[in-house]
Amino acid sequence: MKVCIIYDTKRGSARQIARWMMEELEDLDNVKAEMKKPSEISDFGHDLFIIGSPIYWEKPMKSVVDFLSSNQNNFKDKKVAIFVVCIAEIFGKGTEKYIKNHYLKPLEEKVSGSLIKSKSFKGWMRKPDCKQEKNVKEWTRGVIKECSF
Ligand SMILES: Cc1cc2nc3c(=O)[nH]c(=O)nc-3n(C[C@H](O)[C@H](O)[C@H](O)COP(=O)(O)O)c2cc1C
Repeated sequence: MKVCIIYDTKRGSARQIARWMMEELEDLDNVKAEMKKPSEISDFGHDLFIIGSPIYWEKPMKSVVDFLSSNQNNFKDKKVAIFVVCIAEIFGKGTEKYIKNHYLKPLEEKVSGSLIKSKSFKGWMRKPDCKQEKNVKEWTRGVIKECSF
């Protein structure tokens, strides 16, 4: 299975999260993975796209939203998983619905292909939160498992 992780970032946490995903994917047999920024994508010959953005001022980054909008045709027959990175996670369970409706939905509704899974990961401001590594890797494994059926 060919997998492409597409992400953008301002301060690096979404990149670190994409790297943890890559580590997990590289450990799996029959998976060939790469990670790229939206501006670097020219080839849509992958089976699965994992697409993510940090949240700034209540929104996913424009580069990622615009990328999904302008490539609806290219994703039509593809499997897509979505993730966001945000700090609202720290407010706990009560924010789950808010994150789903305000942070994930703007990306989810632009997916023209088959949406496999979506997820919000807890970001950080300065020092990487290494506790997220396990979460990220587990979720990535779950996405691949879902695609294998
Ligand atoms: C100026 C600024 C605005 C932010 N706005 C939000 C926000 O509206 N909601 C939220 O949950 N997190 C917000 N965050 C937290 C970021 O989503 C978080 O730090 C994330 O890890 C940044 O990702 P990046 O390092 O990949 O750019 C904001 C952070 C900054 C610095």
